[in-house]
Amino acid sequence: MAVYVVDHPLVKHKLGRIREANISVAEFRALSNEICRLLTYEATKNLETEKCTIEGWAGSVEVDQIKGKKATVVPILRAGIGMLDGIMDMIPGVKVSVVGMFRNEETLEPEEYYVKLAKNIEERTAIILDPMLATGGTLIATIDLLKKAGCKRIIGLFLVAAPEGVERVVAAHPDVDIYTASVDERLNEHGYILPGLGDAGDKIFG
Ligand code: PRP
Repeated sequence: MAVYVVDHPLVKHKLGRIREANISVAEFRALSNEICRLLTYEATKNLETEKCTIEGWAGSVEVDQIKGKKATVVPILRAGIGMLDGIMDMIPGVKVSVVGMFRNEETLEPEEYYVKLAKNIEERTAIILDPMLATGGTLIATIDLLKKAGCKRIIGLFLVAAPEGVERVVAAHPDVDIYTASVDERLNEHGYILPGLGDAGDKIFG
């Protein structure tokens, strides 16, 4: 597994704006999708392509296309929905697999409440979306269920991650790649990321 911090100037700038305490719901939604587009660009750079022949304006022309079954995107409800438009702008036909998981705020353990995965998920690259990787419990549980469903290649996209959570995920699932706009300083005693974004779910859903 590798952890990639996508520190492109546009990502850094947008991340700075999304941390603003008094940000509006509209601006938070727009920025999380904008950052997601840039994370998607980076995270898909190793997808394999193959040659195919099409009819161009001047006759047959050989072009590249993504090889095999395309990806499935896996937003983790609720907050992952806030990144979905961003990735669908980049991969318009992508199949969506939905995982509902919330963190019990007393135990900080994830609780699963909904799962609906794309057909042939075992043949697809799964791209998990969640604005926050905090203790890592939600991500580990989601990867567990995707692997049980047969997924072999899994990538996660996050706006911010805590170092404690990243370490747990690396230990549990060393084969998964994580792309994040930032690895922040630490978790506080309530399991919130510092400096973080606050409660991304509340900010996205209003
Ligand atoms: C947040 C976040 C992650 C999870 C991260 O969701 O969107 O899914 O917490 O925490 P962890 O790494 O410690 O498991 P939350 O449970 O608040 O649910 P929501 O998206 O419905 O608001």
